[in-house]
Amino acid sequence: MVLDKLLELSVLAGEVVRNGFRKKINIQYKTNDSNLVTEIDKKSEQVIVDYISKNFPSHGILAEEGSDFNRSSDYLWVIDPLDGTTNFAHGLPIFAVSIGVMKNGEIIAGAVNDVMRDKIYFAEKGTGAFEGERRLSVGSNEILKHSVLVTGFPYDIANNPGNALEIFVEFIKKTRAIRRLGAASIDFCYVADGVFDAFWEVHLSPWDICAGKLIVEEAGGVVTDFHGKPTDIFTKRILASNGKIQEPVLEVLKPYL
Ligand code: IPD
Ligand code: CA
Ligand code: CA
Repeated sequence: MVLDKLLELSVLAGEVVRNGFRKKINIQYKTNDSNLVTEIDKKSEQVIVDYISKNFPSHGILAEEGSDFNRSSDYLWVIDPLDGTTNFAHGLPIFAVSIGVMKNGEIIAGAVNDVMRDKIYFAEKGTGAFEGERRLSVGSNEILKHSVLVTGFPYDIANNPGNALEIFVEFIKKTRAIRRLGAASIDFCYVADGVFDAFWEVHLSPWDICAGKLIVEEAGGVVTDFHGKPTDIFTKRILASNGKIQEPVLEVLKPYL
């Protein structure tokens, strides 16, 4: 029931985002010149919030652009209405709508709509992860120097880098390649789909993590903090991987704990 509605909602919000792409839209700054919000981020959030309020009026909502309701409910919908806003605003077709659903603190379902590739990645707790009808499973590489990893950088990197650049330099020397796509939820999905061996980032938010974490875990991967400990959606420093490469990656992160 929740999954059906989640997928329907994912399509609906994806259409809003797709229709706004490369149109003349209003863009504002949040915390600095790098941290943007567009009218489409807000429109997508409004469509998502209206849908949840109509279908599940008692459920809680936590969304990036400020919606925060019914937080004492057993259910919490954690929403990034447009993940990859910088890409979106600059015409690069890599962005997503990411929606996770939690029940009593546990993520029970998640969907990431990779809008311009028209692919919806989703998972329900205990039943696997899928892209459409295709079951997802993480890759099997365990050798760091054969690996391709992905990362992202916080908007406050100039003032509060959290060693993001130092860690990046270490990995780029020790792996086959590093990619930076600009949409954390898609980074998680590509780990789930065996494209990337691991994804790390030093300052994520709950809406970046919620759906993607479940999708990686249900595809057989592992999501921890930089100590290798279990995470929740409020953990900032996240490592998601195929599991086999988790230890070698954690080893590189050790000096930056
Ligand atoms: C950002 C993207 C980016 C990541 C940032 C996020 P937004 O989300 O996911 O890849 O590096 O940490 O804040 O602002 O585009 O929703
Ligand atoms: Ca985001
Ligand atoms: Ca966003």
